[in-house]
Amino acid sequence: PRSHTDIILAGALGDLSKKYLWQGLFQLYSKFSDSKNTIAFYGVSRDVYEVGAEKLNKILQERVTCKMKDDTKCERRRHEFIQKVRYFQLKADEHFRKFGTFLNSKSDKLNQSVVQGRIFYLALPPSTYTSMAEKLHNCCLLRSGKHWTRIALEKPFGSDTNSAKEMAEGIGTFFKEEEIYRVDHYLGKSVVKQILPFRLKNKDALEPILNSDHVDRVELVMKENFGVKGRFEYYNQYGVIRDVMQNHLTELLALVAMNLPSTLSTREIESQRMGILNHVQPLTSRHTLIGQYSKYISEAQEEGVNASSSAMTPTFGAAVMYVDNARWRNVPFLVISGKQLDEKSSYIRIVFKDKEFCVSSCTHLNGSHFHGPKQIIFHIGHGSLPSPGILVSKNLFKPKLPPGLSTIVVTSHDSSVYGLSMDDFNVAVPIENNDAYVTVIEDLYLGHQQSFVSTGRLMTLWEIWTPVLSGKHSPKMYMENADFSLNFQLNNGGIEFTDKYIAFVESPSEARDQM
Ligand code: BG6
Repeated sequence: PRSHTDIILAGALGDLSKKYLWQGLFQLYSKFSDSKNTIAFYGVSRDVYEVGAEKLNKILQERVTCKMKDDTKCERRRHEFIQKVRYFQLKADEHFRKFGTFLNSKSDKLNQSVVQGRIFYLALPPSTYTSMAEKLHNCCLLRSGKHWTRIALEKPFGSDTNSAKEMAEGIGTFFKEEEIYRVDHYLGKSVVKQILPFRLKNKDALEPILNSDHVDRVELVMKENFGVKGRFEYYNQYGVIRDVMQNHLTELLALVAMNLPSTLSTREIESQRMGILNHVQPLTSRHTLIGQYSKYISEAQEEGVNASSSAMTPTFGAAVMYVDNARWRNVPFLVISGKQLDEKSSYIRIVFKDKEFCVSSCTHLNGSHFHGPKQIIFHIGHGSLPSPGILVSKNLFKPKLPPGLSTIVVTSHDSSVYGLSMDDFNVAVPIENNDAYVTVIEDLYLGHQQSFVSTGRLMTLWEIWTPVLSGKHSPKMYMENADFSLNFQLNNGGIEFTDKYIAFVESPSEARDQM
């Protein structure tokens, strides 16, 4: 059947739209729009038509690009796309009414057999979501023929259990659960998309060892080597835990720790994810550490944000999480993120049992090169590796590759990774390595809801983290470019800062028993 989709981007002139969304929409247009499946794009904001339309055009001209130079086909598509995008002002009630009338007059002209879809993408401050949802619901829903509706939302989705619940109820009044697509862009990262296919393909080798008998620990890490420039107000309200740990990193935990779904359907994946998240122990202050980079307050002041509102904001967080089920009992999941650390790098590392280990660079152990334990690394991005990839210790097993991955041959001359020689690993890389937002937009268009955050999951994620958010602990100060501020120590299953560079897990299982 033929299809037509309207995509309405609210917040069309904002930062996120500029940086990622218009480019993602262009790539969607290039890949999916043809004579049978058409897509119309609308940019909307509060600016009056003359001003808004001009700003939008400028953004499109500057930010929508073709990857390769002199790619004439792409250039032609780019030009078409820019011509196609229409601007509307949506501020007063009357604007919404007019916009609805316009959309519906277009839709009425389409043949009844055309399946029509309408996507509202809100790249707006979350405080406006409920009222925006209400207005769009009233003016602009498709009402007849075969059709579907989706609303996409950007984080933050609340700042604790209660506020998230209130927000979810607000949206839920106007849109059904199967219409709500909460974006977590980490779920669009090329390696993250491959975690379940990789686990399924390698289940004979992997399932028997992915449990507390064999796994020493799992590290979920998101390091950044820059600060909070331009975002101090937002960041002071949220801090690192709400910004990336409650969402991105805990989502990753679910993907590596969940039982394998029998199929990759949204329902199966969701039920297995919830199965694991429901067993994650709610955090306590004993299991979390927070830090703040030393120039944070003064940088915020330079941007006119006062010191008192910055004083308690964590820019570094580390937590040890436990999953209380038979498969994972006593295995520490170390969840770590920070701004102004030594490098930009995101990864999940599953370390299999071994007597000794180190957390960051391993070369300083007795000054000799240490080949480390058997491990699997889902290298999500940046860091010392040239591209995202999945690394499996050669002494573990030889991975089979699902369709989206291909192998590369690495030699010891290639960059080392996490202090280990690349020679020690089999490496698989995603064949397509799109920006996460390109994938997010594609999944949204295709209705792959498993790559978004359901209301049930959102609430469970907040329930895990909310207990540590109300604590009044001051963050510990750390120096910029800290050579990985992993100078903390697991102790009795809890976690604390030490002045040592390496974190030793002294038998977390024994320690945990004493708790
Ligand atoms: C965002 C956070 O969700 O993720 C930012 O709000 C963070 O603070 C960013 O910098 C990191 O994403 P990526 O894709 O660059 O790893």
